[in-house]
Amino acid sequence: MTDSNAGTPLTLSGSAPAPWQRTAAGANLLGPDGALGTVIFEEITGLAARHGAINLGQGFPDEDGPAPVLEAARDAIASGHNQYAPGQGLPVLREAIAAHQERFYGLHLDPATEITVSTGATEAIASALLALCGPGDEVLTFEPFYDSYGAVIGLTGADHVTVPLHAPDFLPDDEQLAAAFSDRTRVVLINNPHNPTGTVFPAELLQRVVDLAARHSAVIVTDEVYEHLTFEAPHVPVATLDGAAERTLTISSAGKTFSVTGWKVGWLSGPAQLVAAVRTVKSYLSYTSGTPFQIAVAQALALPTSFFTGTAAVLGTKRDLLSEGLRAAGLGVYRPQGTYFVLADVAPLGFEDATELARRLPELIGVAAIPVAPFCHDEGAERTRTLLRFAFCKKTDVLTEAADRLAKLGAAL
Ligand SMILES: Cc1ncc(COP(=O)(O)O)c(C=O)c1O
Repeated sequence: MTDSNAGTPLTLSGSAPAPWQRTAAGANLLGPDGALGTVIFEEITGLAARHGAINLGQGFPDEDGPAPVLEAARDAIASGHNQYAPGQGLPVLREAIAAHQERFYGLHLDPATEITVSTGATEAIASALLALCGPGDEVLTFEPFYDSYGAVIGLTGADHVTVPLHAPDFLPDDEQLAAAFSDRTRVVLINNPHNPTGTVFPAELLQRVVDLAARHSAVIVTDEVYEHLTFEAPHVPVATLDGAAERTLTISSAGKTFSVTGWKVGWLSGPAQLVAAVRTVKSYLSYTSGTPFQIAVAQALALPTSFFTGTAAVLGTKRDLLSEGLRAAGLGVYRPQGTYFVLADVAPLGFEDATELARRLPELIGVAAIPVAPFCHDEGAERTRTLLRFAFCKKTDVLTEAADRLAKLGAAL
């Protein structure tokens, strides 16, 4: 399946295309009905604020990261680390990233040539795709997909090919996966653990993706920002699989692991030649990223392993708490194995359209959630029409209150 918008001029309802609408690159930024993806997220956040609802739509924690890490950022500012860092990132952070990849995954990386720091994972994703793809190329992702993927693929002018993830496990069908590759496949963009489904892809599936990418001479870009937020199976980086390292760019960031999403410190690692191409593009985007935060993140990455396992364990109990509340409210609940999102099906409540319910929830019961359909193209939106995404990276008492409110949903309808 390819994006129906790619390469076609867009028209806003009732008007002729404006000159800015006539370019193919960037056309994918708007959905068929005009930027639905952006509008629905903003709309739900606005509704949550208006009705004083608990906002489980947005994916950011409501508690700060570890105190020593916050202190390290304050110290860095106080001690004068306030000017541009090198474009590829401070050596101390690149060394800490290399040490982290070695400690957790046995991956050996040269901090000088195989790692670059970015302004969040978002910039690493954009730089990688802009460095590698252009018109005539195809970028393959699973569907639903994280919203920046569709937008950035649109900016490159490449075609976005999607492989559906099927409920209840949100895994792809083997044949559909193989059929999605072509001679034009330039990049396979994986997200594992996966937002919004919470799937942790089995190593065998990831190995199939690596083998297919190798057969089609494609580069793998893997977004692993939830690497430390898995509840059952441990995270397996794509780069550790057979034949993967030479064609894989791995992306992660401090935001999710250390609950500092506002710091926007991310990184990318992989073969020197590919990293060099990404560094070139990145140098014309943000050029560099916040110096004092880089220093603090270097310290965060060196925290004892118990910090990382402890964070996942606490989050696992929050997953269970919210999932129980959703089940008690009569929704169908898909058990996530990673991330901080849980998908719930509103069909058992007699609803056919989760977007419509998402618009009513803040006023009905004082809880906000995001529909899954905007994470998809047309066919995928139809397939996920009854799904809502709830974030459970919130304080336990907030989740308990949300569960209490959800319990009243049946009566409120
Ligand atoms: C899958 C995925 N990738 C990337 C990001 C963005 O990461 P950052 O804030 O480090 O740019 C998010 C944030 O929600 C995400 O869910």
